[in-house]
Amino acid sequence: MSEKLVVKTEKLTKVFEVGLLRRHRVRALDKLDIEIHQGEVFGLLGPNGSGKSTTMKLLLGLLFPTSGKIEVLGAPPDDVSAKMQIGFLPEESYFYKFLNAEETLRFYGKLFEIPADTLEKRAGELIKMVGLHEARKRPLRGYSKGMSRRIGLAQALINDPKLIFLDEPTSGLDPIGNREMKDLVLRLKDEGKTVVLCSHLLADVQDVCDRIAILDRGVLQVVGPMKDLLTQQDTVQILARKLPEGSWGQVKEAIQQGDAEVVSMGHPTASLEDLFLKTVGRKEKDA
Ligand SMILES: Nc1ncnc2c1ncn2[C@@H]1O[C@H](COP(=O)(O)OP(=O)(O)OP(=O)(O)O)[C@@H](O)[C@H]1O
Ligand SMILES: [Mg+2]
Repeated sequence: MSEKLVVKTEKLTKVFEVGLLRRHRVRALDKLDIEIHQGEVFGLLGPNGSGKSTTMKLLLGLLFPTSGKIEVLGAPPDDVSAKMQIGFLPEESYFYKFLNAEETLRFYGKLFEIPADTLEKRAGELIKMVGLHEARKRPLRGYSKGMSRRIGLAQALINDPKLIFLDEPTSGLDPIGNREMKDLVLRLKDEGKTVVLCSHLLADVQDVCDRIAILDRGVLQVVGPMKDLLTQQDTVQILARKLPEGSWGQVKEAIQQGDAEVVSMGHPTASLEDLFLKTVGRKEKDA
């Protein structure tokens, strides 16, 4: 992975002043130092209200920091040319409900001043990619939650961004849509793009993120490569195929020489996601 930095924050702090006469202060983010590299998938985790969305909005220039520094794509967050290279899927999308999928993408594409022929081609490709081809002429008012999420994602990619922020991208998606979203994040990464996402679905984060940060009440608790954070260095896992059950005892004995201890032995289980996808298939889903 390239070491080029696409996001850097120093002591980034956001305090909201709320309530009557703005007397009540909420410290949403407290002295956050974070670096995100080009080409990585970076996950922001934390309980409700821990500052994930606030961090994204600060990086996008949608909120002003109380103090601290932000650099995104080598520029301050209000830099227009940097913004042109950024895509954002917000926690909740607010679209014009009377527009259909094609019209919605055309509308956003025009905001980025994408030439008409490029825009038509890209909109068509994105609609197919997010599985909305059959529903592309239907007004968004009739879309299900998952379908709205999918059009939100297509909108976030309309400008072919280098850096993509996804706030809870899999919320409301069925397991097929969920898998497709993860595949898509990995595809964006293959294309060299940088993805920053937050999610409460830890299994999803584990599947796609290279590095994660965990926030709690606005304070960074942990940051690092997923593998380093999750690997249990003192345990070795052996997966064997076609090992007769009769010989398990011998394997156990061989392991138990010296101080080593067998923690568990048995048949591994597939994930529920694997079973679900095997059962219902992975065809394009529009309904
Ligand atoms: N516009 C705002 N005005 C006042 N307080 C806010 C505002 N936005 C966020 N907060 C507060 O800042 C804190 C962090 O909120 P944030 O939305 O960043 O959390 P989050 O980690 O995204 O949570 P969730 O998992 O629920 O989406 C919360 O205490 C929230 O109430
Ligand atoms: Mg949030």
